[in-house]
Amino acid sequence: MALFPQTFIDDLRLQADIVQVIQEYVSLKKAGTSYKGLCPFHSEKSPSFTVNRDKGFFHCFGCGAGGDVFKFLELQEKLGFQDAVRHLAQKFGLKVPEPETGREPDAVEREALLKVHERAAEYFRVQLATPAGARARQHLRDRGVSAETTEELALGFAPRGRDGLRETLEGEGFARSLLIRSGLMVERESGEVVDRFRGRLIIPICRDTGSVLAFGARALDADQQPKYLNSPETPIYSKGRTLYGLNLTKGHIRRLGYAVLVEGYFDFAQLLQGGMTPVVASCGTALTAQQAHLLRRFTSKVILSFDPDAAGQGAAARSCELLVAEGFDVNVAVLPPGDDPDGFVRKRGRDAYVELLRTSCPYLDYLLDRTAAQHDLATDEGRRQFLNAMLAVAARIPDPAGRDQFADRLAHKARITEGVVRSEIRKAAVNRRTELTSRELPNFGRVRQAEKGLLWALIHEPADGLDAVGELVDSDLEGLQTTHILEMARSLRDQSSELLPAALFERLNSMEAQLLSSVAAAPFAPAPPDACVRALRRLRFEREQAEVQQEIDRLQKLGAEAHDREINELWQRRKDLLYRIEGLA
Ligand code: CTP
Ligand code: MN
Repeated sequence: MALFPQTFIDDLRLQADIVQVIQEYVSLKKAGTSYKGLCPFHSEKSPSFTVNRDKGFFHCFGCGAGGDVFKFLELQEKLGFQDAVRHLAQKFGLKVPEPETGREPDAVEREALLKVHERAAEYFRVQLATPAGARARQHLRDRGVSAETTEELALGFAPRGRDGLRETLEGEGFARSLLIRSGLMVERESGEVVDRFRGRLIIPICRDTGSVLAFGARALDADQQPKYLNSPETPIYSKGRTLYGLNLTKGHIRRLGYAVLVEGYFDFAQLLQGGMTPVVASCGTALTAQQAHLLRRFTSKVILSFDPDAAGQGAAARSCELLVAEGFDVNVAVLPPGDDPDGFVRKRGRDAYVELLRTSCPYLDYLLDRTAAQHDLATDEGRRQFLNAMLAVAARIPDPAGRDQFADRLAHKARITEGVVRSEIRKAAVNRRTELTSRELPNFGRVRQAEKGLLWALIHEPADGLDAVGELVDSDLEGLQTTHILEMARSLRDQSSELLPAALFERLNSMEAQLLSSVAAAPFAPAPPDACVRALRRLRFEREQAEVQQEIDRLQKLGAEAHDREINELWQRRKDLLYRIEGLA
């Protein structure tokens, strides 16, 4: 669809004030945070047409028309998207660049991108061995990364020159536009195309099957910023769906039955080298649900090895909670202050680290101790606060048995009767359900309240909205009225949140834009985003449960004993799903 370079569309969007554009056709009056007028798309006497300047969309409550500034022009001037863009560019004095030969990211494109990455990885690898790579080799030596590990990770070096890689790849016949789309090249404003990675140590990032999808690149000098420069999102690479190193360690993870989750590339390298092979790295951000699902294919036990404060706070705490909610057994291995696994192993050795893993404690216990330490359990008030702080966490534990067990430990800590805590936790778990349903508005066709809550958040609280849709996986989104809109939002996860509303509108067809604007025009959030995520996930489990039940019925009708084992397994699966459903209530 977007045949113009995205940067151009983004610029244009920033310039083209939707109120200014629409005002040429409709007389608008300010009403609160939005503008109102008579709808140009149907005849009416009292104004039901609203324009939201900050969020960049219009919506008519009368006829349902809605969308962004481009959509308005398409409807008003009966233009196609391309022409609406030209029209606006002219109006706001922007030079229209030549359209790209734009092709949707299809199989051919992916194939070509994989080829470029494979060739680039080889180029970087060769460069590491040249005299120019001496600084990078020294860096590896200084950090105790052996030649074997360097080879196993296929580490490389990007020379300082501005276009060494481009010259090489173009010489081999790769098209410049492909190189730009791969993220390996950057197009400057002057039109010059240069290598993205220069003067850096190169770390290839692979799919779990081993093909190179992207690169991480570490600075070699203290004044080089940022410390790590990574490939952007491309049709073949999404950071939130990739776990660094999984291609090398998945076999070990499956065999040993657990994974050690670390933050950095070098934590991974050091542990791999030390023979602690069931390791993967999250690469510095909070784990996403997709990463959790990816890992789930190999194990359901994780030992988190982040730095000590991190485990209780911020990204690491969110990762833990996500893993717990996804039904993982999560342990936390606490490192001494100021250490990461890389530093710890180098200083204290492999055995000390293995001991740390061995004595790691369940995340919920860890959290319990940590939270208990923050409250004065000698007072009633302190105990009440402590209990309240833990209830939210407890309510998220997916299986009821685990929840009760946790309740008992909680009771012990706070010296409160077990039965009381258990029932509090059950209530908290149930409240999570009623909170959402009681807010359900009547009669909004087939669009569920949970979907609406997410759409609304994507426009009005884009950062939260993005976080929420980032937690959903494909199967959570199946069969919804808004599947495509939510998928689109998910694919825009790297978009800055101010630009998100516009970027999203721009990628939707008219029907979808209309749906989105109608939800966004509501003055209040239909439901909080995290409750929406749980509601959709619950729906998915219910769907899966129904499918399993069908299969059980089918096999039971066949009646042969040969199916007994299969049926048993299905019952088990069904029970699992029921627990999960209850856990999400
Ligand atoms: N990271 C990143 N971009 C940054 C900083 C960090 O992608 N600007 C990711 C990298 O995957 C990095 C991880 O987050 O390995 C952990 O970051 P940090 O703790 O800052 O780096 P270290 O791995 O400790 O870096 P090093 O040991 O190389 O100094
Ligand atoms: Mn480090």
